[in-house]
Amino acid sequence: MAVEKERTILKKTASYEAEPGDVGRVLLLYSGGLDTSVMLKWIQDEYDAEVVALTVNLGQPGEDFEVVKGKALQLGALDCEVLDAREEFAEHYVLPGIKANALYGGGYPLFTALGRPLIAKLAVEAARKHGCDTIAHGCTGKGNDQVRIEATVAALAPELKIIAPVRGWQMGREEEVEYARRNGIPVKGGTEAPPYSIDDNIWGRSSEGGPIEDLNEPPRDDVFQLVTRPEEAPDEPELLEVEFERGRPVALNGERLGLVDLLERAGDIGCRHGVGIVDHIEDRIVGLKVRDLYEVPAAAIILTAHKELEKLVGTIHQNQFKPQVDNQWAFLVYAGLWQEPLLSDLNAYMDAVNEQVTGVITLKLYKGSVRAVARRSPNALYDPELAGFGASGGLFSQQASPGFIELWSLQSRMAYGIRNRGKAES
Ligand code: ARG
Repeated sequence: MAVEKERTILKKTASYEAEPGDVGRVLLLYSGGLDTSVMLKWIQDEYDAEVVALTVNLGQPGEDFEVVKGKALQLGALDCEVLDAREEFAEHYVLPGIKANALYGGGYPLFTALGRPLIAKLAVEAARKHGCDTIAHGCTGKGNDQVRIEATVAALAPELKIIAPVRGWQMGREEEVEYARRNGIPVKGGTEAPPYSIDDNIWGRSSEGGPIEDLNEPPRDDVFQLVTRPEEAPDEPELLEVEFERGRPVALNGERLGLVDLLERAGDIGCRHGVGIVDHIEDRIVGLKVRDLYEVPAAAIILTAHKELEKLVGTIHQNQFKPQVDNQWAFLVYAGLWQEPLLSDLNAYMDAVNEQVTGVITLKLYKGSVRAVARRSPNALYDPELAGFGASGGLFSQQASPGFIELWSLQSRMAYGIRNRGKAES
């Protein structure tokens, strides 16, 4: 039973939020799901405004964008643009992430966090093109995505206003379904749909909510719609060669591929072998802790290979330092600060290090695991002659080692002696 609210538009808090009187034509970020479909109708009714819809293709597996577009038009959108942004996403968002070994909290390769600033940028462009004064998105008030979208829109387009109806309309899923029924909005899967909040693109898929929130329970099987469960993966392992040029993955098993194709192909191979399932407790930027179930087959493969190759060509000092910077990169992106200058500073460093990251890593995929089993690079700081036991001469002299040890350990030995003064006698 839906109770009619007297006032469902929230009073504004931030300068960039729209008052009802500001809203004439809205650019709605439209996925075709329940929230944004209800929004499409609700905005027309509550604000008495026109709506132009924008749907962005970032490689959501199995999505039929023509159906999404048809639905938007049927619900009264003036227009619905579908943009294939896979190329731009791979090139300018995922690739910098690969160079930065981007992983938040040790497990989340940031596919959603990388997608949001691009979606927000495309929304700004579309809003300007269609003469919209306001951008609407379907994020709730509890997540990171609102931060990412609004921070980007506010940075790129101070003249545009933002509304986020889900944050204020106080409808739960049942009330939304009821609203949808009343307004002739088709509801996919009805109330039988798995009770998860899903977001996906070529770099991964996340499920949140519903039974996942019970930390005491292992994930139900119906969560995993992408990656084969490891116990059902093939009994034979598969070797996969991943080739990089200056940090960019360029070939799989010797076949050169464009970045989008390569990521999709890596994803398919990973899915088959049950690779890239992550059960992640995450610190959201808005303070909450949340549990996410990630399916990230492409990232599990490409990041593992990239990290391995980077380690082979980097010095001990670079290899000690870079993970700290990687961490900072991941945090800024997670936190929605894509326009923060520190991020471009860090990107310059990432590019510099990745100049050397050329070579081939062979991975072994087997029932959910992925590990490097062979490596080659023209830039490897590895010389089998020097590392071998019989070696002497040239760059390395074993006779020099004791002298090095004496100096290297000097302070630690002195400190140890001081801290243990007088203890020896007892
Ligand atoms: N926890 C991840 C993040 O904050 C994934 C969010 C997924 N978004 C969603 N609308 N289900 O980036």
